[in-house]
Amino acid sequence: MKTLETERLILRPFEETDFEAVHAYASAAENIQYMVWGPNDESQTKAFISQAIAQAKENPCSNYQFAVVLKSNRRLIGACNLAISSNDEAEIGWILHRDYWKQGFGTEMGKRILEFGFSELGLHRITAHCDAENYGSYRVMERIGMRREGCFLEARPANKYSDKKYGDEYSYAILKDEWEVLQDSLL
Ligand SMILES: CC(C)(COP(=O)(O)OP(=O)(O)OC[C@H]1O[C@@H](n2cnc3c(N)ncnc32)[C@H](O)[C@@H]1OP(=O)(O)O)[C@@H](O)C(=O)NCCC(=O)NCCS
Repeated sequence: MKTLETERLILRPFEETDFEAVHAYASAAENIQYMVWGPNDESQTKAFISQAIAQAKENPCSNYQFAVVLKSNRRLIGACNLAISSNDEAEIGWILHRDYWKQGFGTEMGKRILEFGFSELGLHRITAHCDAENYGSYRVMERIGMRREGCFLEARPANKYSDKKYGDEYSYAILKDEWEVLQDSLL
């Protein structure tokens, strides 16, 4: 699996030594409030890293799991992934350690992973899903050009701080043609 770069970030395959940095966000309630998984115990974080390392070695890879590292100090600040869901389609996702929210890193890695999917993997359609209350996540989807295709009522477990059992889910997507128009408009 190759390493990707943005202006401020390196997206690289996971390594066993990433445990502490990954567990720092994956075990924190505030960080995983809207995730379907977590908070992780140590064995769950280790299992995630082992699985990500194994998936990186698959050929063809079915789930590209990237550790997100700051170029400035090589610190691991989060993760993003692109999971192939059918021949020409994939779903993307992301998480950043809470100390790094609201600095544009989510948008930066989201843009790069879309580019990876369309221009390097030749995909036709890329989707993303999140809790309908997860403003940070769906704003990243919108900032990178994805369209909201639907809201699925009570389709996922409610966020971790809610008294409710179920939460609503937004579904976003972007087609390769739409992405190409966006690239042209940036030239
Ligand atoms: C979702 C996430 C990766 C966004 O990353 P980010 O680097 O903070 O995003 P950006 O800085 O590019 O900001 C995008 C927008 O989201 C907003 N935002 C980001 N994090 C936010 C948060 N925790 N709460 C409220 N707004 C947030 C930003 O202010 C910005 O809003 P704007 O477009 O109105 O200006 C990050 O918030 C995160 O890791 N959240 C926890 C994990 C998670 O929920 N992942 C998604 C699961 S589907």
